[in-house]
Amino acid sequence: MDRDSVEPEVTDLPGDRATEWVDYHHEFSAPSTYVYEFVWDHTAPAEGPFCTDVDGNVLMDFTSHVAAAPLGYNNPKIMEPLAEFELTDPVKIAGQDFYASDGRSPGEGMPGAAGLMDRITDISSSFDMDTVFLSNSGAEAVENAMKISYDNNPLGKYALTFEGAFHGRTLGALSLNRSKEVYRRRFPEIASVHDFPFCSCEDAPSGCECGYFRGEESALSAKLDPKTGHVNPEEVAFLMMEPIQGEGGYRFPSEAFARDVAEVTEKYDITLIADEIQAGLGRTGEWWASEHYPFDPDVITSAKGMRVGATISDTEIFPEETGRLSSTWGAGDYLAAAKGAFTIDAIEEYDLLENATRRGQQFQELMRDADLDGVTSVRGKGLMLGLDFESKALRDDIVDAAFARGLLLLACGKKTIRVLPPMDVTEREIELGAELFIEAIEAEN
Ligand SMILES: Cc1ncc(COP(=O)(O)O)c(C=O)c1O
Repeated sequence: MDRDSVEPEVTDLPGDRATEWVDYHHEFSAPSTYVYEFVWDHTAPAEGPFCTDVDGNVLMDFTSHVAAAPLGYNNPKIMEPLAEFELTDPVKIAGQDFYASDGRSPGEGMPGAAGLMDRITDISSSFDMDTVFLSNSGAEAVENAMKISYDNNPLGKYALTFEGAFHGRTLGALSLNRSKEVYRRRFPEIASVHDFPFCSCEDAPSGCECGYFRGEESALSAKLDPKTGHVNPEEVAFLMMEPIQGEGGYRFPSEAFARDVAEVTEKYDITLIADEIQAGLGRTGEWWASEHYPFDPDVITSAKGMRVGATISDTEIFPEETGRLSSTWGAGDYLAAAKGAFTIDAIEEYDLLENATRRGQQFQELMRDADLDGVTSVRGKGLMLGLDFESKALRDDIVDAAFARGLLLLACGKKTIRVLPPMDVTEREIELGAELFIEAIEAEN
């Protein structure tokens, strides 16, 4: 496959073999969140956003596996550094709760868990974060962020979250979720969670419509007011927020809201956990989405493109007691940690933060210039891009129409389509993806 010239080519979607695979999968699998009948053939040609399915259809993937494959398919920027090493068969090693090295000195050779944490602290130095706990998934990164925050404040019993939030599916994490009710319904939850509107109102505070601001005062500061509020700020264990909401609909905080959250958490010294699992790791053009805003997070959670879960903070926030945090497969296997490390290296080496910013702007311009019926908003930071539609039905039809043309997109929120091209996406690929997307929108209007 030549990435510089290949284009999506779809004949039969889903084809017979895809249908066969989907049926086989569902014979054993609990119902989950599979969106469309796309079955990737990982032995067939694929590179960057392009991939081939089991029936030979060539598709363009603008989901990057919901940000879990930030450099797309088979990217040589990761494959080549991996190929340089004589890979240890992961089967030889059990969990990561023993130290491991490839026989060379620290900082040299194949980066395992230690090499990954070294890089994570480098990219988090703007927040003075020097310590990491590695786990396996985003939800675990969130669980551990909550645990260290409770541990760090002996008075802490309250947790604060936002409408539209999504933090994962384990019991602790889902207690903080405020997006689809299917995630939480009838599951037991941690106690004393308070929620607030996530304000993305352009004219906030004066033109705020979501209820976060009443006049100049915010719902957060009113709730925490030591004289008139209902929650003693000293008893708040943490405030958790996605700096840019993902599953909730690619919602970007208004300036006034971001400033208010930053000021209130600072005023009362409340531990701010930034859940960067979807927005972080460079996707928005900065290593962490928080860097676009006045937030000064005390803890960051990351996962997805990192290949493992990471709870990142300052060493003082982590418990010292051995055994307070642990995970057999924390940092996945040796290979997962190396892939996470090489992803960070590639983003740095190839200037992909800058590329994300530039290509994201290109995509927004193309979609705005097309002046499409049914589209009510085009927005984004870097390559975290979202379009809103007039209705959920129209949105869902457009996702299907794009799929039929060989473009993979994903819905989120109520009426939003999110677009997450690989971070090294080229100008030509953005043009091609936008063209297919526009065709799909025009076909459904
Ligand atoms: C913001 C955010 N937090 C947490 C999670 C949970 O991550 P995982 O699915 O790896 O548990 C996700 C997953 O989409 C997410 O987007």
